[in-house]
Amino acid sequence: MPDMKVNLAGMTMKNPIVVASGTFGFGREYNEFFDLGELGGICAKGLTLLPREGNPAPRIAETPMGILNSVGLQNPGVDAFVKEELPFLRQFDTKVIANISGNTPEEYGIMCDKLAEAGVDMIEVNISCPNVKAGGLAYGTRPDLAAEVTEMAKKHAGNVPVMVKLSPNVTDITEIAKAVEGAGADAVSLINTIRGMRIDVNTRRPVLKMNTGGMSGPAVLPVAVRMVWEVANAVSIPILGMGGVAKGEDAAQLMLAGATAVAVGTSLFADPYAAINVRDGLAAIADRQGLASVGELTGGVQPW
Ligand code: SIN
Repeated sequence: MPDMKVNLAGMTMKNPIVVASGTFGFGREYNEFFDLGELGGICAKGLTLLPREGNPAPRIAETPMGILNSVGLQNPGVDAFVKEELPFLRQFDTKVIANISGNTPEEYGIMCDKLAEAGVDMIEVNISCPNVKAGGLAYGTRPDLAAEVTEMAKKHAGNVPVMVKLSPNVTDITEIAKAVEGAGADAVSLINTIRGMRIDVNTRRPVLKMNTGGMSGPAVLPVAVRMVWEVANAVSIPILGMGGVAKGEDAAQLMLAGATAVAVGTSLFADPYAAINVRDGLAAIADRQGLASVGELTGGVQPW
């Protein structure tokens, strides 16, 4: 079998498969299905400085090939994560990535201080949540603000690598990728969800209470592959690719487009073993192609 180890911005993972933030909680429920140490990494539910209840329901709806969510960053806050959830996650032989969103650059800085001290393996800086008014997407659609948040995170993250999560809801994602690379980001992750809307034709009401939400699931995979390819050609920092991954071939596509590692998200809601199956499917493809290491897939696309 090929060597499945990959190195994402200095963080060595036993395999390239991470579970995406917001689709795995803090791992407790999935731990009833499999040993979390099977995963390359766990990206925990997005954290804010203070606890948040999130947006009013309904806040999740199905789409033809995925879901629309407007969760609104429900979470217990960074201090509760450090005290109650991180010790649980630390029991497993896997990398722990904390995902953070702030209302101001200063809030990102404070959270990075706390998480660096707590000893997470990586910090994913979310500048791409489409479901909150302050922060979130506001930072992810302007190169200058994206750079400001990245600089703040880097200043406070100590030796912990900083990965910035990019939004697909922009005209040119490479502009934001280049801005955060210039500001010192160690890696980028993409894509977050694509803004969408559904309407109940009988009530004439949007199906989500917030009217719009973020779309994820298999329908977005081709958008993710295209954007990972564009970003890989624009920056030299590594990429965690995600968006609609449900099987090994999907992960292989994102790696061929330029991703070093791949996150599995929405498909976990339909199949709690999805990430394990993706890992095994990816290993089988690398084996079939006679690769010594799965990392040989990264950037291997041969465009016409
Ligand atoms: C949410 O909690 O609204 C989703 C988080 C995100 O899309 O970044």
